[in-house]
Amino acid sequence: MSEPVSLQDRVVIVTGAGGGLGRAHALLFAARGAHVLVNDLGGSTHGEGANASAADQVVAQIRAAGGSAVANHDSVADGARIVEHALDSFGRVDVVVNNAGILRDKAFHKMDDSDWELVYKVHVEGAFKVTRAAWPHMREQQWGRVIFTSSTSGIYGNFGQANYAMAKLGLYGLTRTLAIEGRKHGVLVNAIAPTGGTRMTEGLIPPQVFEQLRPELISPLVVYLSSEQCQDSGQLFEVGGGWVGKVRWERSLGVGFDPAQGFTPEQVAQHWSQIGDFEGAVHPQDNLQALQQMMANLQA
Ligand SMILES: NC(=O)c1ccc[n+]([C@@H]2O[C@H](COP(=O)([O-])OP(=O)(O)OC[C@H]3O[C@@H](n4cnc5c(N)ncnc54)[C@H](O)[C@@H]3O)[C@@H](O)[C@H]2O)c1
Repeated sequence: MSEPVSLQDRVVIVTGAGGGLGRAHALLFAARGAHVLVNDLGGSTHGEGANASAADQVVAQIRAAGGSAVANHDSVADGARIVEHALDSFGRVDVVVNNAGILRDKAFHKMDDSDWELVYKVHVEGAFKVTRAAWPHMREQQWGRVIFTSSTSGIYGNFGQANYAMAKLGLYGLTRTLAIEGRKHGVLVNAIAPTGGTRMTEGLIPPQVFEQLRPELISPLVVYLSSEQCQDSGQLFEVGGGWVGKVRWERSLGVGFDPAQGFTPEQVAQHWSQIGDFEGAVHPQDNLQALQQMMANLQA
């Protein structure tokens, strides 16, 4: 058995924690000794309306179990206020779990500006605003953990979710870069692509599977990624139903052409299957590694 994972006295912000996955995360953080800022605007899945009771009920549940929590009803678009509230309540901020989210699903030819912008605003700009406000505090204390909530729809694509897929894979790019910037300050940044039975997926997942994909089967990964034990950064994990797997980029060895001899569309066509051959594929970890094959081709 490994060491117990404790979040004792860590201050954790969970956005969109009034229901679904965020609620499950907040409950587990509190059970592991954290002070939790339970943020939720309390709007609909489509990002309309507001209702304070969602966050309030989660806080009541945490306190009834002897835990420590405070409710916050700001939108993630006002991220600085959320972080201020955590600082005012608990004096510091150690962990940010960017979880708040909405859907505006439509086939791309029907998607209008507001569907695109609202999804961007909540998922990307919201995660940016909260994380950006917490970042200097984490750097200063040389310790922090940030989790972004991505999606398999971003990784693999999904019909009717052009806006959502854009936002969710954007968060992975943000994860990769903040991991690089945060590492030397003890701030580790990871992303999850969860699958859980919540109001967001109700009707999309067959009922029997929906029941099994309980939100609390995602939270143990989130709590681990937020802990002292976790030293990974910049990673992406698919998680759901009690299963966890890690995702990485893979690239074929590729084909090097000689620019001095001319490089034509016909040569591309001729080598097309070799370009896409994943035999001996590489898994670049950063820009420098990614450029190795290209540079070798220049020198050849
Ligand atoms: N459920 C899944 O299978 C699944 C799959 C992939 C990704 N996700 C992501 O997981 C996260 C949680 O989703 P969920 O399934 O629990 O859905 P959910 O609708 O139950 O929870 C999302 C919460 O975010 C809150 N929220 C929305 N906009 C907000 C804003 N501007 N400010 C603050 N709070 C706001 C909502 O009120 C809601 O309580 C989302 O980012 C979602 O995109 C979920």
